[in-house]
Amino acid sequence: MSDLPPAWWRDAVIYQIYPRSFADANGDGIGDLPGIRSRLPYLRDLGVDAVWLSPFYLSPQADAGYDVADYRTVDPIFGTVEDARGLVDDAHDVGVRVIVDLVPNHSSDQHVWFQQALAEGPGSPLRERYHFRDGRGDLPPNDWPSIFGGPAWTQVPDGQWYLHLFAPEQPDFNWDHPAVADEFRTILRFWLDLGVDGFRIDVAHGLVKEAGLPDIGADTSWHLLDVGESPCFDRPGVHEIYRGWRRILDEYPGERIAVAEAWAPTLARVADYVRPDELHQAFNFSYMSTAWQVEAQREVIDASLAAMHAVGAPTTWTLSNHDVVRHTNRLMQENQGEVAGRRPTEVDAEAGLRRARAASLLLLALPGSAYLYQGEELGLPEVVDLPASVRQDPAFHRAAGQDGYRDGCRVPIPWSGTAAPYGFGPGSSWLPQPSSWASLSVAAQDGVPGSTLTMYRDALALRRKVLAAGDALTWQDAPGGVLAFERGASFRCLVNMGDGPVTLDAPGELLIASGPVAIENGIATIPPDTASWWSL
Ligand code: GLC
Ligand code: CA
Repeated sequence: MSDLPPAWWRDAVIYQIYPRSFADANGDGIGDLPGIRSRLPYLRDLGVDAVWLSPFYLSPQADAGYDVADYRTVDPIFGTVEDARGLVDDAHDVGVRVIVDLVPNHSSDQHVWFQQALAEGPGSPLRERYHFRDGRGDLPPNDWPSIFGGPAWTQVPDGQWYLHLFAPEQPDFNWDHPAVADEFRTILRFWLDLGVDGFRIDVAHGLVKEAGLPDIGADTSWHLLDVGESPCFDRPGVHEIYRGWRRILDEYPGERIAVAEAWAPTLARVADYVRPDELHQAFNFSYMSTAWQVEAQREVIDASLAAMHAVGAPTTWTLSNHDVVRHTNRLMQENQGEVAGRRPTEVDAEAGLRRARAASLLLLALPGSAYLYQGEELGLPEVVDLPASVRQDPAFHRAAGQDGYRDGCRVPIPWSGTAAPYGFGPGSSWLPQPSSWASLSVAAQDGVPGSTLTMYRDALALRRKVLAAGDALTWQDAPGGVLAFERGASFRCLVNMGDGPVTLDAPGELLIASGPVAIENGIATIPPDTASWWSL
């Protein structure tokens, strides 16, 4: 890949694949690596630069693979290490890079280290690779809550407790232990040697805990996505870990990257993760948490660009991922700015799709790197009516759990056909697909003018051609409710976020729009919730 331009990641479009829901090759109802491999031509034609694969490692699947039992083995439900290698090689052959998910904050409780720690008993050095403590009488060692509900501590039969910021099946590693750091350096090299182009770092802000594991205090209502100061998140010590990882990444040719899932109290604190000697990118959750409203959008776009510019990193933009309500629904809901833990609600599907398309076209016009989540290019809605019996999010059945509604964005992709599983695989699908999804399938939208898939393909192709490099953006005056900016000398983006149509002088040639923009005698009429790109 040496002939590719340098710094490919600074403006890359990176497509998140949730392996269990993308494509199922063997018919067991769960997507797998051979399934992804067979769909690479789709990703090439979509025009993405890279894919990020959620975890496919050996795992009891207590949290859909974010509970890893062996970091160097592929879970048999997803395939083999050879399948992973073949997928990476084939992806490179079609010009798509591959980023894998690394889960360093916690392992599975079935990981051999945790099993050894349990077997050895209190006082054993093998317990020090996790956080084992004696309780306070009958109570856990401190007052930390688990993000998935209940206390962050579980007692084992010999009386000690272990820490798990997530589910009890996900014990937190003790990153002060040199063996943990060594192990992860080896894991990084294992996947880099296999050829991956980078890592998405799960819970990147969580690895280091405040010494002594102090109580949070009276108010323990914080959660992962709403972190103020807390003794378990965004501690200064995490940055040393990432400096070490950056040195490893830089040893490999081809600009291997890492992107942090780091929820921090301010954008400046997020930017700390992407200083020149640390990771390359961090997800912009501030943007994801912003309402569909001109002033709010302008403010967060400016603040994001400024914070990342200050450290020389590109800004990233995301609207959907496997943890939040799909933006087809979310941007229509009350509290649009609360991205997680909210019960998704039914919205007017047509209006939701119109707004989501506009939001996506805006996102793709912004300077920096765009993260897309599988299915958004089809305009898939959140599935809001999954029966409790099929739900698998580990927090669903835990009262006060933050994330219990994450299954609705994880329903398998419709590829073709008129009935479920819509070409997802030869069998069924692990979550049921709505009967209305036939018209949203890839086959139904392929080549159809005006379809959401066509809009994404066209926008991704145009993006390479017409968008200036760099992070400069100039806001333009525009009628109320309209967001307007230019990049370079010849590109303008106009987004009508208001309730009614707006008319204005057409600024040039219309390149693409998310809805029907009319131009007559040099006057453009832009419908509500519509984004448009213009060549000046
Ligand atoms: C991250 C993942 C989420 C997972 C959690 C625990 O937030 O995105 O899916 O449940 O970490 O690993
Ligand atoms: Ca399968």
